[in-house]
Amino acid sequence: MSVTYPPPPTHAEARGALFYDPRLWADMDAWHARVRELRETEGIVLVDDPGYAPFHVLLRHSDVFAVSRDNTGWLNTAQSVLGPDSDWVELVNSGMPPPASLVQLDGTKHRDHRQVTNDWFKPAVVGKRQPRIDQICDEFITKMRDLGGSCDFAKDIAQPYTLRVIMDIYGVPEEDEHLMLELTQGIFGAADPEFLGDADDPGQKLLASIMQFIQYFNELTEDRRACPADDLASVIANGTIDGELMADQERLWYYIIVATAGHDTTSFALSGGMEQLARQPEQLWAIRDEPELVVNAAEEVIRYTTPVRHFLRWAAEARRVADVEVPAGGRVLLCYPSANRDPAVFTDPDTFDVRRPEADRLFSFGGGAHFCLGAQFARREVRTMLGRLSQELDHVEVAGDVSYAQSHFVSGVKHLPIEYGFR
Ligand code: HEM
Repeated sequence: MSVTYPPPPTHAEARGALFYDPRLWADMDAWHARVRELRETEGIVLVDDPGYAPFHVLLRHSDVFAVSRDNTGWLNTAQSVLGPDSDWVELVNSGMPPPASLVQLDGTKHRDHRQVTNDWFKPAVVGKRQPRIDQICDEFITKMRDLGGSCDFAKDIAQPYTLRVIMDIYGVPEEDEHLMLELTQGIFGAADPEFLGDADDPGQKLLASIMQFIQYFNELTEDRRACPADDLASVIANGTIDGELMADQERLWYYIIVATAGHDTTSFALSGGMEQLARQPEQLWAIRDEPELVVNAAEEVIRYTTPVRHFLRWAAEARRVADVEVPAGGRVLLCYPSANRDPAVFTDPDTFDVRRPEADRLFSFGGGAHFCLGAQFARREVRTMLGRLSQELDHVEVAGDVSYAQSHFVSGVKHLPIEYGFR
């Protein structure tokens, strides 16, 4: 499952690479500048490049929205994330079962699987976890104080804080968190050389990460079946569909999607949001002066950063979108970061503004039947940390080079050196 990319394209014709070459996601200003032009001039872009079956990229908010909510006309399928065709062929030839987590399921199968954990993610239930999120946030504010005025906010705070919240919900003990971190990065950030570890290539890293996940969660299942606890692992371990316990593979995919989808995403939102606030601290002080602003600020952080970069949808039958006819079996790429900068919805979209009136029209969590299950958790995590920082910091600034993870699927600020002082 290895893929060798040619040198990063810089010329306008090589625009398809904007959506599949991980390296182009390491410079988001350049990426947005090129995509802005494509959105304004074309709105929908056909990519027909070597190694990739053709696909259209939807860049406008209205088109991404329309396709996302039509879950019978447009399907997720096992190939809901873009990769080189050779990866899929190798997977099929290897005899391994295709991925089958929530984001790869459709129709009633998807509905029934989602139902297993749905109650856990309802606003009222998530609200009951707020005291625990506050407590975990406290630990990381203390850590920031202990670090004495400078840190890599992405690595030292955003990553471990968001990891601890999701693992706490899961019921995974703190001592296993480092393993979870390595595994989520192996799955989501495998294309970034920094996350490759000892593996030779991203495909190998991805497979190795999945195998480790399987072993870990098999053990966890045995434990939670023997002694169920008040945690999400117990809900999944004992989850039933049509009165039967979920099959081994179904259950494993469930663990994988919640553990992976719930971590790097929120971490990248927080680190990217903090970059903006450290560059424009008056916006952080605005939250201090007006604490209820934190709700809108979190929406703006998640819009501006858009950590999930895309999902694919496949046409169940011939479908028309953005004046283009997509044949049955054709696919489109939902480009969330572009939808979130569409001036038809967001005034002055490249500006970060915690008071933005339309911030709640963000498309970072997708839409339709697959709308992010963990959105309430993500929002609370971001609000809690921003609220605390606005109250407690005295000053903050960016103090070095900011770098972005290289991934065309889930990415964002991976290193954010800051200097700060507390009140
Ligand atoms: C800022 C943070 C997050 C972002 C930007 C984000 C984004 C997304 C997106 C774009 C989707 C696909 C939606 C679609 O296809 O229409 C999704 C699905 C999902 N997310 Fe999130 N997510 C975040 C945080 C979380 C958290 C904290 C959790 C778990 C606690 C979570 C769990 C899931 C799950 C399980 C799905 C699959 C839902 C389905 O297919 O039915 N996410 N998320």
